[in-house]
Amino acid sequence: MNQSPRHVAIIMDGNGRWAKARGYPRFYGHIRGTTRVREIVREAHRVGIQALTLYAFSTENWKRPAEELTVLWKLLRKYIRREVIELKRNGVRLHMIGEINRLPQDAQRELRAAMEELKDGTKLHLTFALSYGARTEIIEAAKALANECVQGKLTVDQITEQEFEKHLSTSFLGESAEVDFMIRTSGEKRISNYLLWQSSYAEFDFPEVLWPDYSVEEFRKSLENFKNRQRRFGGI
Ligand code: IPE
Ligand code: IPE
Ligand code: MG
Repeated sequence: MNQSPRHVAIIMDGNGRWAKARGYPRFYGHIRGTTRVREIVREAHRVGIQALTLYAFSTENWKRPAEELTVLWKLLRKYIRREVIELKRNGVRLHMIGEINRLPQDAQRELRAAMEELKDGTKLHLTFALSYGARTEIIEAAKALANECVQGKLTVDQITEQEFEKHLSTSFLGESAEVDFMIRTSGEKRISNYLLWQSSYAEFDFPEVLWPDYSVEEFRKSLENFKNRQRRFGGI
């Protein structure tokens, strides 16, 4: 297959280990990781990827120490503030999925303002998954459908995959919501509650490098790797 993936999802993992290996506190890894986000977004735009969905914080990550969380929200705000002009110039549209209401108020405010500022972007859909968990997302969709049935807007027989997908947090992506390529850095080979429904037929890549070392060069290698895959979707 010689096509580029339309929707790439990345689990940006390994910041803490990167810092630890250098004798730094964990947040150093997050700082360096933010630089990588900037580079990878730029490259995704350059190669014409339509949707890039970055796992920045899972529902399970709330278990981390408060100091680490504070750093993460601060870095997120800083990233948004610094990048919004370039993102706009490049026609990037910004989205968030996950329980955004659980984020600190000031972070929410800035994120919403940036999404508004970038709402006319059409080239790349850049989505941050924040306080995101796929099981919660699926349960919410099931509840919404159950409600529609109770209210008589839908019959049980009308519950199809298409109908279900309308209630997932990625529905704004339309057909591109389906993940073509899922990348997880740091060598861990698990999905950690990320986009379970959307990645049913995704190709996977598990580069050994930690996220702060995941350069544009590494990203290109991953994309090359994708091009050599044969996707059969159950056919022959
Ligand atoms: C990923 O890196 C970033 C977030 C989860 C926010 P980690 O912080 O999980 O780094 P490791 O896995 O501990 O090395
Ligand atoms: C997954 O990484 C979430 C993000 C990268 C944001 P974790 O480091 O939290 O996942 P586990 O705990 O190793 O599965
Ligand atoms: Mg981790």
